[in-house]
Amino acid sequence: MKHYLQFSDFTADEYDYLLARAALIKKKFKGYEKHHTLSDRTLAMIFEKASTRTRVSFEAGMYQLGGSVVHLTTGDSQLGRAEPIEDSARVISRMTDLVMIRTFGQDKIERFAEYSRVPVINGLTNEFHPCQILADIFTFIEHRGSIKGKVVAWVGDGNNMANTWLQAADLLGFKVHLSTPGGYEVDEQLAFNGKPVHPGCYEVFQNPLDACKGADLVTTDVWTSMGYEAENEARKKAFADWCVDAEMMAAAKADALFMHCLPAHRGEEVEADVIDGPQSVVWDEAENRMHVQKALMEYLLLGRQPG
Ligand code: CP
Ligand code: NVA
Repeated sequence: MKHYLQFSDFTADEYDYLLARAALIKKKFKGYEKHHTLSDRTLAMIFEKASTRTRVSFEAGMYQLGGSVVHLTTGDSQLGRAEPIEDSARVISRMTDLVMIRTFGQDKIERFAEYSRVPVINGLTNEFHPCQILADIFTFIEHRGSIKGKVVAWVGDGNNMANTWLQAADLLGFKVHLSTPGGYEVDEQLAFNGKPVHPGCYEVFQNPLDACKGADLVTTDVWTSMGYEAENEARKKAFADWCVDAEMMAAAKADALFMHCLPAHRGEEVEADVIDGPQSVVWDEAENRMHVQKALMEYLLLGRQPG
């Protein structure tokens, strides 16, 4: 049994399969063709943090695969009343076939997975957001072809998205230009689980404009992630120069794309003319969450499928 708790849980070969499968699943969806490979299967979705895209993409995706979903939050389940995570895992995984969790610490999802009888998917933790990066890479490939050898500029917080981009670069052979304000750097030990990585899979830049130079993709995220709201005012000051604007996009390659996992704050981490401009692919990126996650759920439950 496989779980998907961080991007590095799968090999490059597994990603080749998943990305190709997601393209097929998307094509069938667009053609109103049925793809009921998970009929009678049930996905449990556990949210300890808010969500729009993750909930809708997993829920709609599971129904489109012929399955059904159970939606739980901290507020309306015993999870919020301190039932041990190990007990919740044992119980929920006896009644469902697959579990998606959005929570705080990565340790929590790892403990759940340890006691689960069924595959567990990370729907975002403080440390990682693998489903989002899978969608982002799928989106890049749709627009520009292979991501191998390309440059992704990360402008902003050294957060769950940044950590996951680094894991993907190491695994899939592209490079991340990282620019974060002082005090908000990526913790490389955490991002790579203390393992050695391919030299040159990332480079750190003090100045965000320098990070964007020659980039094939410029991407950012909120200055304050969920769970860090108490730091909001301090972050607003520290991140003031890490707003993706037209000047940064002009420093990137002429055909560079802009991505943002959303939700976005126009005028903070990105200017409206960038996110709403011609280089932005954020709506495709959001939609693609559903297509890649359908491929992911199918893979975790059925393994590789022919054709
Ligand atoms: N990008 C993303 O995960 O969005 P939600 O927080 O709306 O799920
Ligand atoms: N880094 C953000 C992503 C939201 C989808 C957060 O963790 O809140």
